[in-house]
Amino acid sequence: MGCSSPEEPAIAGRTRTLPDTQGNATAGREIFFRKASPKCFICHAIGADKEKAGPNLQDVGTRYDRGELLDALLHPSRQIADGFSVQIIETQSQGLVVGVVARETPSLLIRNELGDEIAVSLDQVLSRRTSERSMMPDDLIDSLSDQDLLDLLAFLESLAGEPAR
Ligand code: HEC
Repeated sequence: MGCSSPEEPAIAGRTRTLPDTQGNATAGREIFFRKASPKCFICHAIGADKEKAGPNLQDVGTRYDRGELLDALLHPSRQIADGFSVQIIETQSQGLVVGVVARETPSLLIRNELGDEIAVSLDQVLSRRTSERSMMPDDLIDSLSDQDLLDLLAFLESLAGEPAR
């Protein structure tokens, strides 16, 4: 990959080179759960926590290595986890409802990026389409220092619980 030209979409050139040192998983857990950016916990449950819009990450360390985890953070929309794409649902009485579908019946249950759950009765749905963009923003980790990112990755790698479902 060469230098990115101004014409290139930002997503194509996103890389992050990290120092070859280990992070601290305990510090990484604090970053994951902190109320300020990047607010991972708004969209991800771990273990028995109440389910959120994004996948439960309790076994993510067994499913991805560090490089793949970093890639998931840099390019959320490149490979959208099964069942977690964003749906854009036009409704009769609730306007446009945008989020991940948590349940299809007896009514739709949508989880949005604010952590809200919205119920939509099926007879209110006028149209539905699937977005190609992940709900997870791709500039999420830009504000993290190298050390913070290493810590966060160490925390994700340490998540090796039983699969959620
Ligand atoms: C606004 C909601 C939102 C935020 C904030 C968010 N994520 Fe996500 N994340 C998602 C959704 C939705 C998916 C599933 C779609 C996809 O694969 O992009 C996902 C996917 C992932 C995946 C891949 C999971 C899998 O099973 O394939 C990882 C790893 C991940 N997120 C980690 C994080 C971390 C770490 C943070 C904080 C730095 C974070 N996410 C912040 C919504 C979010």
